[in-house]
Amino acid sequence: MLKGKVSVVTGGSRGIGAAVVKKLASLGSDVAVIYAGNEAMAEEVCNFCRSEYGVKAGHYRCNVADFGEVKDTVKKIKEDFGTVNVLVNNAGITRDGLVAAMGEQAFSDVLDVNLKGAFNMIRHCSAFFIRNKGGSIVNISSVSGIMGNAGQANYAASKAGLIGLTKSVARELAPKNVTCNAVAPGFIETDMTRGISGEDNALAGMIPLGRMGNPEEVANAVAFLAESEYITGEVLRVDGGIAM
Ligand code: NAI
Repeated sequence: MLKGKVSVVTGGSRGIGAAVVKKLASLGSDVAVIYAGNEAMAEEVCNFCRSEYGVKAGHYRCNVADFGEVKDTVKKIKEDFGTVNVLVNNAGITRDGLVAAMGEQAFSDVLDVNLKGAFNMIRHCSAFFIRNKGGSIVNISSVSGIMGNAGQANYAASKAGLIGLTKSVARELAPKNVTCNAVAPGFIETDMTRGISGEDNALAGMIPLGRMGNPEEVANAVAFLAESEYITGEVLRVDGGIAM
């Protein structure tokens, strides 16, 4: 069902985003990879998709927090790929700290990338979905947005905000046959969680399935939602049971 479609993935050069790009490409989708800084890694992901799956792949440097930059980038993607059928808002950052000591910048930076970034992308890609009378949007939230997390007031607020954004967009675009869902990962082994060891007994003890997840397990859930035509406004946890 994704064969011949065009998927855009933000933060697609590494971690969960790179796994999502590869998964969607494995299902036959062309892929546009948006990355913040590391061109070499973005190119590596694109090369893998071209050589392994024979799909078209391109990368675009863009700060998703910047409304104008996103507009220009989406325009370039349209020139290169013609349209957008699947949008995965995966780009995200953390600036952890206790709320009593959190700086203003740490709060707004996280909201700007994680929440406004997804809005910016949806805002500029919506015309494709409406014109195509179909398509799917998947936003990467977090269990922090469901449960809250001490030390992550900014991050949890942004990820909870993404759930509200997801459900509103799902309602707005449903008449156009467009779905919008969220995936809420728990602890996944990537650069973002470097230092939190999978061998850590305290952490493993908190997770009912007893281990951290891997990016491919999140990517499978994203692909499932991207292909589902009758699921919208859903939040799918991929968390080993931690937030049940
Ligand atoms: P990561 O740090 O490895 O990757 C984040 C990606 O976002 C990078 O490619 C980075 O370049 C990109 N990015 C950051 N700021 C950007 C900006 N302003 N513009 C464009 N791209 C930007 O992180 P990871 O772990 O792969 O996380 C991916 C998503 O999954 C994030 O939204 C994160 O919040 C979420 N998540 C991760 C969990 C984990 O345990 N690793 C758990 C729950 C959610």
